[in-house]
Amino acid sequence: MSQLVTIYGGSGFIGRYIAHRMARAGWRVRVAVRRPNQALFVRTYGTVGQVEPVLCNIRDDISVAEAMRGADAVVYSVGTFDKFGKNNFDAVQHEGAERVARIAAEQQVATLVHISAIGADSASDVLYSRSKGQGEEGVLKHCPKAVILRPSVVFGPEDDFFNRFAGMAVMSPVLPIPGADTRFQPVFVDDVAAAAERAVRGKAAAGTYELGGPEIMTFRELLEMMLEVIQRRRLIIGLPFGLAKFFAWWFDLWQRLSGGLIKAPLTVDQVKSLKHDNVVSPGAKGFADLGLDETAMAAVLPSYLYRFRESGQYAAIKASAKNLKP
Ligand SMILES: NC(=O)c1ccc[n+]([C@@H]2O[C@H](COP(=O)([O-])OP(=O)(O)OC[C@H]3O[C@@H](n4cnc5c(N)ncnc54)[C@H](OP(=O)(O)O)[C@@H]3O)[C@@H](O)[C@H]2O)c1
Repeated sequence: MSQLVTIYGGSGFIGRYIAHRMARAGWRVRVAVRRPNQALFVRTYGTVGQVEPVLCNIRDDISVAEAMRGADAVVYSVGTFDKFGKNNFDAVQHEGAERVARIAAEQQVATLVHISAIGADSASDVLYSRSKGQGEEGVLKHCPKAVILRPSVVFGPEDDFFNRFAGMAVMSPVLPIPGADTRFQPVFVDDVAAAAERAVRGKAAAGTYELGGPEIMTFRELLEMMLEVIQRRRLIIGLPFGLAKFFAWWFDLWQRLSGGLIKAPLTVDQVKSLKHDNVVSPGAKGFADLGLDETAMAAVLPSYLYRFRESGQYAAIKASAKNLKP
C-alpha cells in the first residue's frame, strides 16, 4: 500500500500544487476541506481513488482526527485574511494549526509540514502575522520536529496578488497603493509545493525555512512589471499609510456590517503589514538548504497574465499582423 498524506487546505491555491506533486510521487492524498464538492478537481491529479477530497473543518477536533486517520504525513495549508467571522485569524492560523499538530502527535504521525508566512511573530502588531506566530508556537509545542515553511507573497496562475492588480488595471486608469516602497520577494507556487514535497518525503531537516524567489522588488516595481506584462500604462499612486488606514477602516466596517457579504478590498491589518518588508531574513534556511532552485517571475507571469492584455491571447498575433499592412 502506498503512503498516505492528509493535506488540510489541499484544494487552496498552494495546497492543490502540493496535492498534485504528492500524487505524482505515488502517494495517496487526502484533501481535507470544508467544501469537498468544490474540490473534486483534485481527483484528476492521480489515478482513480488516489486523491480524495474529504469533509473536514479544522475548527473541529473530530473531523480533523478522522481526516488524519492512517496518515503517514500531514500538511497544514489553511489560512485566511479574515479577522471577523468564525473562520478568523485565531481560529484558522493559531488554534487550527495547533489542533492539527496536537492530533498528529496523538496519532503518532511521522511528519508534519506547516505552511506559515514570512513575518510570523507572536508579538507582532499585525494580527495576521501574530496568529501565524502563535500557530507556529502551537505546532512546535506538540510536534517539535515539524517542518515550517514561511513563503513571501506567492505567485502563480490562481494567485490573489498579480491577478487582483491586473484586474484592477483593466478597470481603472490609476492604481492607488499603500506601502509602495515595501519590499517583497515573490515565490512561485510550485516551488513552495516542491519544498513541501521534500519535507513530506522526509528529505528536509526539521526546522523553519523562509521561501522567497530570486528577485526582491518593491510593491511599486512589482506593479510596473505586471503592467509591462499586460501591456497597459497606468498611473501608480503611493498612498500615505494614514490615508490608506482611514479607507481601510471604512472597508472593515462595511465587511463587518454586511456580515462578511461585502469583502473589504483593503483591511486595516493589511495596511499595517505593508509597513514591513516581506523578504527572507538574513541567515534563514531556505530553498538552497532544501536542494531546490527558485523560479523567476518573468518565466511564469506572461503564461497567466496574458488574459489581461487588451486583446488577450490575440495580442501577439495582432501586433505581428500590423507589420503586414502595406
Ligand atoms: N497565497 C499567498 O500568497 C501566501 C503567502 C504566504 C503564506 N501563505 C499561507 O499559505 C497557506 C495556504 O494559503 P492559500 O493561498 O493556498 O490559501 P487559500 O487559497 O485561501 O486556501 C485555503 C484552503 O483551506 C481550506 N479551508 C479554509 N478554511 C478551512 C477550515 N475551517 N477547515 C478546513 N479547511 C479550510 C479551503 O477550502 P474550503 O474553503 O473548501 O474549506 C482551501 O482549500 C495559508 O496558511 C497562507 O497563510 C499564503
